[in-house]
Amino acid sequence: MMIARTLEELRAAREALGPVGFVPTMGALHAGHISLVNAAKADGLPVAASIFVNPTQFGPSEDFSRYPRDEQGDLDKLEAAGCDLVWLPSVDVMYPPKAATSIHVGGPALKWEGASRPGHFSGVATVVAKLFGQVRPAAAYFGEKDWQQVQVVSRMVEDLELPLRIVPVPIAREASGLALSSRNAYLSAPEHKAAPALYAALVHAAGDILAGKEVAATLQNARHALAKAGMVPDYVALVHANTLEPLAGFARPARLIAAAKLGAVRLLDNVPVG
Ligand code: PAF
Repeated sequence: MMIARTLEELRAAREALGPVGFVPTMGALHAGHISLVNAAKADGLPVAASIFVNPTQFGPSEDFSRYPRDEQGDLDKLEAAGCDLVWLPSVDVMYPPKAATSIHVGGPALKWEGASRPGHFSGVATVVAKLFGQVRPAAAYFGEKDWQQVQVVSRMVEDLELPLRIVPVPIAREASGLALSSRNAYLSAPEHKAAPALYAALVHAAGDILAGKEVAATLQNARHALAKAGMVPDYVALVHANTLEPLAGFARPARLIAAAKLGAVRLLDNVPVG
């Protein structure tokens, strides 16, 4: 497995590989990230991954400085998964002092995570566009756990006519149903036990909506279920799966999305409806 820490090293490694599948990450890798590597390999592409904890997608009161970091552990996992190249840029490489460009995505970026975390998707879109420019992948693999992020990146790629495919990869879950996330490391043992209630509430709500129950009442029930499990719901919404616009009644393609605070941890999850 090649490791590039400078743009010169990255260029040399990219020339050696030809078209690649790309897995951008912020490290603290878990089985969900490895499923992205596996999806790229299944497409028959050599795999390039990046590890970069991107400061511009964290708000001032968020966890940038304490975000879990384990470079050697991550490299070991990527090597074991058969990754061909890891790109490990520094903050200076990604954001040189003279840089003056950032990307603003409207549409699917405006509500939900976009409203709760101002500036988050601009930080994501800017770093992802920059990584695409550096790595020049044929395809890039994103976990559906961050459903809205996948839609925002897909919109950006289409709008800017960037020459790559975005491949969404289904959510990897614990046996309990809890979606894998690097931030699950912050959960205490009792919180970890309570956390699967988020997925359970979404699955229940999806069933109710498909059974014809009223959407507003179903979402309210889901919020109650989260509160009963000790969470503070931020949003539980039925949305158009691509535009992220709220749906007052069931219409395809639909996705149920939710975010809730459990102790100090913000959990995200989503399920398809129909
Ligand atoms: O999903 C993530 O880990 C990050 O948002 C990403 C896509 C690597 C950009 O920093």
